[in-house]
Amino acid sequence: MFNKPSRRKRAGILVLVLAMLLGTACKSKDSQSNTSAPSTSASSSEATMTEAAESVTSTPTPSPSPSPSPSPSPTDTPSPTPTPMPEYIEPIITGGAVWYDGYVDPRTIRAEVVADPSDIAVLVNKYYASPSSYVPELVYAKYSAGQQLRPEAAAAWEQLHDACMAETGEDLYLISGYRDWATQTYSFNNAITRRGLDKTCCKNAYPGRSEHPLGLALDINIKSDPEIRDNFVYTKAGEWVVQNGYKYGFIWRYPKDYGFITGYGVEGWHFRYVGIDVATEMHDNNIMTLEEYYGKPQVMPDNE
Ligand code: DAL
Ligand code: ZN
Repeated sequence: MFNKPSRRKRAGILVLVLAMLLGTACKSKDSQSNTSAPSTSASSSEATMTEAAESVTSTPTPSPSPSPSPSPSPTDTPSPTPTPMPEYIEPIITGGAVWYDGYVDPRTIRAEVVADPSDIAVLVNKYYASPSSYVPELVYAKYSAGQQLRPEAAAAWEQLHDACMAETGEDLYLISGYRDWATQTYSFNNAITRRGLDKTCCKNAYPGRSEHPLGLALDINIKSDPEIRDNFVYTKAGEWVVQNGYKYGFIWRYPKDYGFITGYGVEGWHFRYVGIDVATEMHDNNIMTLEEYYGKPQVMPDNE
């Protein structure tokens, strides 16, 4: 006979059947989703892989390394530029300055050696000396018998000559330009013998106290009268040079009545190249001497 299953057994069978039905349903759904999956899902997963790889291989953002804070360097205390001490040439005749009619004997006074004798506008006189070792660059000057000048002065001299010729028809001539130390020594000593000490102190420069060894001084006249003449500045050519020389960089160096400032009596023939700037400034301000331009007039006995 057929035994009716117990209630417990029936419940178990029911659970089993339900479980089987549910399992079939899930299987069918999975297979449907697999076949219809878009291909992008694979790409998407590749992209994810690439990103991952990149994120692995990409250079890690450098974490900012602490920039070394500069160790404080010791404060450089600027060392002051030492002011060069002037050199002096002591008098060879001691006992104080000796004067002759307002002109001092250069051998009896101390002179300061100029710091830069190559300065175009340097002041050289009885009180400011050029060093004995200084020899400037020199060239032969035109309109002369083999005289030499510094190149700047020689070029300006040529322009002065040509302008004077063009405006006055006068043919300027350079009698004496550069003179070396030995020539200047001979000239000074010879002048004492020939003219006497008083006139020498008025007109002749002691070695080192002349502008001629600078290659910047010119004793001039006209070609038809190649001699030193006191009255040159009163001739047609001389007047023109006095009035127009500044345009070319020249000044009349020892004007009449300024000997108490320059230390030398009037010289109607001696001109000095100082450059156009200084010459023009002197002209425009009516400054007659280089001593006044520098505020260094000769020290007269009353002022000593
Ligand atoms: N006659 C001028 C002063 C010189 O010899 O330089
Ligand atoms: Zn001269």
